[in-house]
Amino acid sequence: MAELKKIAVMTSGGDAPGMNACIRAVVRNAIFKGVEVVGIHRGYEGMIDGDFENLESHKVSNIIQRGGTILKSARSERFRTKEGRQKAFEQMKFAGVQAFVAIGGDGTFRGATVFEKEHGIQCIGVPGTIDNDLFGTDYTLGFDTAINTAIDAIDKIRDTADSHNRLFFVEVMGRDAGFIALSCAIAGGAEAVVIPETETNIDNLITILEKGWYHKKSSAIVVVAEGDEAGGAYDIARLVKEKFSEYDTRVAILGHIQRGGNPSVYDRILGSRLGVGAVDALLAGRRNEMIGVTNGKISFTPFSKATKHHQEINKNLLQLVEILSI
Ligand code: F6P
Repeated sequence: MAELKKIAVMTSGGDAPGMNACIRAVVRNAIFKGVEVVGIHRGYEGMIDGDFENLESHKVSNIIQRGGTILKSARSERFRTKEGRQKAFEQMKFAGVQAFVAIGGDGTFRGATVFEKEHGIQCIGVPGTIDNDLFGTDYTLGFDTAINTAIDAIDKIRDTADSHNRLFFVEVMGRDAGFIALSCAIAGGAEAVVIPETETNIDNLITILEKGWYHKKSSAIVVVAEGDEAGGAYDIARLVKEKFSEYDTRVAILGHIQRGGNPSVYDRILGSRLGVGAVDALLAGRRNEMIGVTNGKISFTPFSKATKHHQEINKNLLQLVEILSI
C-alpha cells in the first residue's frame, strides 16, 4: 500500500451542524501528520467536476462555530452512474488524491462503497446527518444541535398554545426516522409522539388527548415525525379533528430551520473527534468503514453494515413519553 501523501475531505447529502468542526479537524490532523488535504466542493458533484481546493490550516480558521458546510453539499445523481464515477476517479487521480473522508449519510457511504470497488479509492465515512438514523454510532453529527433548535421552537409554541388553550401538532424532520421526534417529545413535555418506527393508531392518540382534556390540561402538543406512515402533521391533525374537536387546533412545521445554526458544544466535540479519528484511520490503512462513537468510544462499522441496518428506536424512551404525559 502506497504511503498517503494527499487526501481529500467532502460533505455530501443534507448539511448538518458540526460538519465545519469536522472539516477543520480533518485538515488540521492531516497537516499535523504531514499529509496534504484537498477540499472537494459540493460532494460527489464536485468530485466529478474536479471542483477541488487546497486546504491549508488557515482556511479552516474561524469555522468551528459555524453551521452549514464551507465545502457546500449536494445529492449527486451523476455519481450513481458508472460514467460519473469514472470521471470522478480521473479527477481524483489528476489531483493526486489517494484517499478521502466523506462526511454524510447512508447514500454517501453507498457511493463510496461502489467507488472503492470500481477504482480502489480508500474512504472513511463520518456520520453527518441531523436524523441520527445511522447504524454504528450513538450519535450522528448535527443531531444534538437539531434537537436543541427544535426544542427551542417547541418551548415557544408551548407559550402560545397555553395562552389560547390550543392543541398543536408540531412536525419535525427525520425523513424516515423518529429520533428527532422522540427526543423532542420527551424534552418538550409533549402529550404524544408519532413516529414511523411504530404503527400510528389515531384512536389511541385521541384517547391520550381526551384524557388530558378531562384532566383539565389547557393545551397539548403532539410531535409528529415528517416520515410517519399515517402522514405529516397536517394529515394527523385532520384525522384527530374528525373525531375529537374539543381543542382549537394548529399545525407548525419546523422544517429546515432544524438544519441550520451554530453547532452545539456536543456537535463541535463530536465533529472534532470524528475528523481526527477519520484521518488516523486512513493513515492506518482502514477503508470502507464509518467511524462513529459507541458508548462514548470511537468505533468503526463497515459501510455494508452501516448502510444496511437502521438504528433502532429505544422502546423505553417511547414509554417515557406515555408515562410522563398523563
Ligand atoms: O437527512 C436530513 C434531512 O434533513 C431529513 O431530515 C429531511 O427529510 C431531508 O434531509 C430533507 O432534504 P432536502 O434538504 O433535500 O429537502
